[in-house]
Amino acid sequence: MKRVIYPGSFDPFTNGHEDLVRRAAVLFDEVLVAVAVNQEKTPMFTIEERVRLIAECCADLKQVRVISFQGLLVDAVREYDAGAALRGVRAFSDFEYELQMAFMNRSLQPGYETVFLMPKVENSFVSSRVVKEVATLGGDFSAYVPETVRRAILEKLRK
Ligand code: PNS
Repeated sequence: MKRVIYPGSFDPFTNGHEDLVRRAAVLFDEVLVAVAVNQEKTPMFTIEERVRLIAECCADLKQVRVISFQGLLVDAVREYDAGAALRGVRAFSDFEYELQMAFMNRSLQPGYETVFLMPKVENSFVSSRVVKEVATLGGDFSAYVPETVRRAILEKLRK
């Protein structure tokens, strides 16, 4: 059984994230999307909301499970008996940060592996931060997030 953990903040889950989950679902028997707790002090969505939204977006994929985790990623990878962690790389600018994380994690836990996948070009400039900024400033962000997430963001902004 090949299980991969896809960790992230997912605040919010974007089309780029969903793109990666769907690619991973073809390559692995099980994909655990893992929402990291305590990454940002003022998130738009709570951890529970993020888990629920991601689960809704991936409801048609039987091999995808959504969890949250606290603490080190290497510990979550071990706890869930995953063969690797999955990260997306969009542009060269992502690479330095990802390389640093991958090396640090491997140094913390020998045998730890990171698998990198690229989203399709249309999703390569989409990030949670930019989506939040466009949405907050009243721009049209519907092309960058799943419909469930779009509705949830609008609901948040109405409050
Ligand atoms: O979507 P993000 O914010 O780029 O995800 C970053 C995340 C959550 C994958 C990373 O910060 C992480 O793994 N956090 C858990 C704590 C940890 O293991 N830190 C050491 C990694 S070098």
